[in-house]
Amino acid sequence: MIYSRIVGTGSCLPPKIVTNAELAAQMDTSDEWIRTRTGIRQRHIAEASQTSSDLALPASREALSAAGLAPSDVDLIIVATSTPDYVFPSTACLLQAKLGIKGCPAFDIQAVCSGFVYGLAVADKFIRSGQHKCALVVGAEVFSRILDWNDRGTAVLFGDGAGAAVLRADSRPGVMASALHADGSHAGILSVPGNVCGGKVTGSPFLRMDGKAVFKLAVKVLDEVARETLAQCGLTTRDIDWLIPHQANARIIQATANKLGIDASKLVITVDRHANTSAASVPLALDLALRDGRIRPGQRVMLEGVGGGFTWGAVLVEM
Ligand code: ACO
Repeated sequence: MIYSRIVGTGSCLPPKIVTNAELAAQMDTSDEWIRTRTGIRQRHIAEASQTSSDLALPASREALSAAGLAPSDVDLIIVATSTPDYVFPSTACLLQAKLGIKGCPAFDIQAVCSGFVYGLAVADKFIRSGQHKCALVVGAEVFSRILDWNDRGTAVLFGDGAGAAVLRADSRPGVMASALHADGSHAGILSVPGNVCGGKVTGSPFLRMDGKAVFKLAVKVLDEVARETLAQCGLTTRDIDWLIPHQANARIIQATANKLGIDASKLVITVDRHANTSAASVPLALDLALRDGRIRPGQRVMLEGVGGGFTWGAVLVEM
């Protein structure tokens, strides 16, 4: 049997940090409100000239270096982003050119905050098919570009960044199971309902959200999809060493862990430092916990995404 394994991860966070106190100086909010409602203390914000592919490049190089591989070893590139550099070509194609390689398939996945989990599941299936041996999967976002900085209800929640993972074909399972879902009937609770038409933006270029509806749905589907993924392997929540849910909000993460009966000590949390980086949040958290030695070889990690669409999914990996 052919399986895929994560053999290297990497991160890139723009150097500029914006604290809650700095936001409170610009809009009617407070550090206390943001921390108690979301767990967020600060976020990284890209410079105006930095694009998603600019952030994806160092994260990808770091992941390849951790894997001991060169860009020329990659035969599949998937970039998960909702803030692509252009309408087209895809951010994955732009990243491929920046990595100095050509020929391998490269495409973007648009599943908002579930994007990296979607990308990992898709790359796993490409590798299991036997046609691909080394996939680069990246979540990269400049969400600061699609925020209405006059809307305190959403502007305080997000940040920019990129995380990457390299998957290689192996005879031992790394990715043990995955499950992906979507329900487009919930499109209205989280969206950027705009487009480019005739040289102008039609609709709105800014993120709109019904926070309470998102909260409820997120906790419900993160619980369900974790159990569904474990059931594929005949495992239970007791068999997970680490849970890395999408980093939207510390209260969503905690409520999900409570529902699953997973102890808080098994959670990797970065939302306090990074805020919600959408498709980048899960690979950024995975990379951090691998590099600081919390996640060790042989341990089982449940990665979970949930986001606009509505989309959700989980991937269970053995490191
Ligand atoms: N600072 C101060 N006050 C604020 C702010 C702010 N940044 N934002 C909203 N408020 C005010 C509101 O105006 C409202 O005031 P009012 O009572 O005078 O009308 C009050 O705070 C309560 O507002 P609610 O929206 O009811 O606040 P709630 O307790 O629901 O918390 C939050 C809002 C944090 C967004 C919550 O709904 C939530 O966590 N939702 C999940 C959404 C999320 O995390 N989305 C991320 C993207 S989705 C994803 O990644 C899956």
